[in-house]
Amino acid sequence: MASRAGRWWAPGRVNLIGEHTDYNEGFVLPLALPLGVTCIAAARPAGAVRVRSRQAPRGERDEIATTTAVLATGGWSELPAWTHYPLGVIREFERRGHEIPGVDLDLDATVPIGAGLSSSAALSCAVAIALRDLFAPTVSDTEIIDIARTAENVYAGVPTGLLDQSAAILCTAGHLLFLDTRTGRTEQIPFDLDAFGLSLLVLDTGSPHQLVDGAYATRRAECAAAAAQLGVGSLRDIAFATEADRLTDPILRRRAHHVITENTRVLRIAEQLRTGADPRKIAPDLTASHESLRDDFEVSAPPLDLAVTASLASGAYGARMTGGGFGGSVIALVDRDRASQVSQAVREAFATKGFDPPRAFTATPSAGAHRLD
Ligand code: GLA
Repeated sequence: MASRAGRWWAPGRVNLIGEHTDYNEGFVLPLALPLGVTCIAAARPAGAVRVRSRQAPRGERDEIATTTAVLATGGWSELPAWTHYPLGVIREFERRGHEIPGVDLDLDATVPIGAGLSSSAALSCAVAIALRDLFAPTVSDTEIIDIARTAENVYAGVPTGLLDQSAAILCTAGHLLFLDTRTGRTEQIPFDLDAFGLSLLVLDTGSPHQLVDGAYATRRAECAAAAAQLGVGSLRDIAFATEADRLTDPILRRRAHHVITENTRVLRIAEQLRTGADPRKIAPDLTASHESLRDDFEVSAPPLDLAVTASLASGAYGARMTGGGFGGSVIALVDRDRASQVSQAVREAFATKGFDPPRAFTATPSAGAHRLD
């Protein structure tokens, strides 16, 4: 008895700049990709829940059936790891008082998984907006972002901030999303690289990006410790990098230095783009962000560093890793007519090191999550 059905979409993202700032109440500047996750959803009776994903690991591609009652008593934890995202979203709706009578979810992704392009937030957000339209139409975008993030934090066990879910829900075509993660203030900043003869090249290095292994959580804890030792609630409250020099622990000092300087870079880039400057002007800050993530925050990885140096050596104006790090993707600001030469140069550099060839595409700022039909 599928009374209502439809198809919903949520995008992956690249973060132009503002990395590891979201859980420090700082600033981020992502754009939505034209790649994402489609969720076909249909209402079911009697608490029946069925989920299926075309990208599930081999052996887990058959439909997985459970019930809302089983989910309510923690039964989701016995099911395959990938299901914790959609089932966590269902459970969160119910826990917040929005009854889900039962639902079928059929998921399909075009955004690469584990590439640091936020495939998991695309999945959680596609499911969340489907459930909202089918069963809980009064739920706000802010709550959707919170539900999707809780699904990742609590059910999938990844302690992310809200960058990825905010990007999936709030980004609009042709724009960067400027988000102040402390106040929730947002601004859509036009980002028309084409008008300047530019492209934003994405290089998916294919090296697995893994946030559940503890390194991400360690960075969060280090930032919290640095803020406490500096006597502030969060590193957002520190305006000048020199203030981090008061920290005696060299690791905490470097972590704080990254977050403080990164916030400054986001604000500067937002201001340059808001006033219509040539985007080539932002390039030094993109590269400086990478160096800070590599040296101070220590979340880069050899394939990411190589993609950055090879891009810059072959004509990119600026380049940096994007997303949480430890693998994943690099973005490079390039002249549109040099994009293929730059990606070829990176491919050749990878070959000399024996790395698998990176996947390259250009990112166009695309629409946030919405119903397809
Ligand atoms: C991951 C997390 C985000 C954010 C970035 C780093 O993508 O999901 O919340 O912390 O890393 O900027």
